[in-house]
Amino acid sequence: MAASAKGRLVPVLAVAAALAAVLLYRAPFSKSLGGEGCSLLPHDHFWIASERVVTLGRVGPAAVEVKGGLINAIAVGDYRNFVLRRPLLDYGDAVIMPGLIDVHAHLDEPGREEWEGFSTGTRAAAAGGITTLVDMPLNSFPSTVSEETLKLKLEAARDKLFVDVGFWGGLVPENAFNPSALESLLNAGVLGLKSFMCPSGINDFPMTNSTHIEEGLVTLAKYQRPLLIHAERIPDDEDDDGLDGELDPRSYATYLKSRPPAWEESAIRDLQRAMKDTEAGGRSEGAHIHIVHLSDAKASLELMKDAKRTGASVTVETCPHYLAFSADEVPDGDTRFKCAPPIRDGMNRENLWKALLDGHIDMLSSDHSPSAPDLKLMEEGNFLKAWGGISSLQFVLPVTWSYGKRYGITLNQLAAWWSENPAKLAGQKNKGAILPGYHADIVVWKPEAQFELDDSHSVYHKHRNISAYLGKEVSGKVLSTFVRGNLVFAEDKHAKAACGATILAK
Ligand SMILES: *[C@@H]1O[C@H](CO)[C@@H](O)[C@H](O)[C@H]1NC(C)=O
Ligand SMILES: *[C@@H]1O[C@H](CO)[C@@H](O)[C@H](O)[C@H]1NC(C)=O
Ligand SMILES: [Zn+2]
Repeated sequence: MAASAKGRLVPVLAVAAALAAVLLYRAPFSKSLGGEGCSLLPHDHFWIASERVVTLGRVGPAAVEVKGGLINAIAVGDYRNFVLRRPLLDYGDAVIMPGLIDVHAHLDEPGREEWEGFSTGTRAAAAGGITTLVDMPLNSFPSTVSEETLKLKLEAARDKLFVDVGFWGGLVPENAFNPSALESLLNAGVLGLKSFMCPSGINDFPMTNSTHIEEGLVTLAKYQRPLLIHAERIPDDEDDDGLDGELDPRSYATYLKSRPPAWEESAIRDLQRAMKDTEAGGRSEGAHIHIVHLSDAKASLELMKDAKRTGASVTVETCPHYLAFSADEVPDGDTRFKCAPPIRDGMNRENLWKALLDGHIDMLSSDHSPSAPDLKLMEEGNFLKAWGGISSLQFVLPVTWSYGKRYGITLNQLAAWWSENPAKLAGQKNKGAILPGYHADIVVWKPEAQFELDDSHSVYHKHRNISAYLGKEVSGKVLSTFVRGNLVFAEDKHAKAACGATILAK
């Protein structure tokens, strides 16, 4: 994406400054938007600058002109020598990076506001440097599986969004063989569909088999939108919990055994025909398969590499919790760590990092999936009965950075995993990078600032005291978050008004 976007740019002015050359890149157009209280700044035309701006495939000193919600120009070089006629916010050595795009978050509204919600969820997102998120079609009630249920989402979200929010729809047995039902859901604006190959845990979101998926892809191909798949499947020769005999439900090892890597492998094997259908000349050319939250870094990953090699249109995400934790670190009874697929052993975690660094895993997502606190059964500590889902939305930037530092990750890699590639998946051509003409969706953060993830009032999740990350020392503090030019979060404060947009596909 960056390469083609760069091709459109024309440096209109080159200034020889004292030491560094300043190149000015300007967008061909800009339009105005915004309203009362949407921003913590009084103006919608200004520059932001720092020594470390992640733009044009590099990191270095630059100033970024924000005008009417868009990035209007980028002055690369020693911006302090550059005469700017508008207010300049100089962030010194802080990093200015594209805002994060989280393609996998469960905001649970309407219907399960006691789990999370549009207001709390998007406040947390803004505080964490996330400028766009895509809401999953389940855990809210009803699930988003039709035009009517998408409308309920849009109504529930009105005036509550601090960041931009798009929606995935659900591919379920009820609509999979019904192209006109799927078309009306896609026409209503979902960015793509999501389905499960194992029970989802939500009654009105039943699982699909490979036939449902192959059929659904044919419709998705017409719209060139992706199908996101929860790829765990109970192998044909197994009972549904995979456990033999009496095992301690408070032990994490028991839970781990109940969802082995073979489930992920079985699902992806079962998808091989569907993946082949997405190849050039295939039955669903134009559609795309995206495997959500891959945990197994072995056989399942190899199958995905094979599919990519033969030309299938496929991508894979994993989540920070699989990169931060290993199974032996999960305390017995601590169900805050329960998620599906499970967090696996330390060697698997190493292999996930390697796959991410090698480009075999394309992007990261939070899979923020909280619940009402009582469903985590914290006192009982029963891993088999507790709700599975890790609460993490606000923490993903410092977590990815802190745990990734030992692998030498770069700011450009962070921007690819968290902004550029997710923008592509979600079909957002003007998001995911700091480039002229793009939305001014920006996070300003200090990679070196250390702090503890705690349950203080600067955490905005609905249930701030339930997260597997609490107590972890991390570095990487978000200073400011801009969504389409509005300063929506700064110095632990949110803008007065919630002016995030709902993003609908056209
Ligand atoms: C999937 O389920 C449908 C019924 O909803 C059935 O017709 C089809 O044969 C199943 N496919 C597979 C591969 O089991
Ligand atoms: C979290 O806080 C709630 C009250 O808001 C309390 O009922 C619950 O016990 C707390 N849970 C933990 C794990 O601290
Ligand atoms: Zn999820």
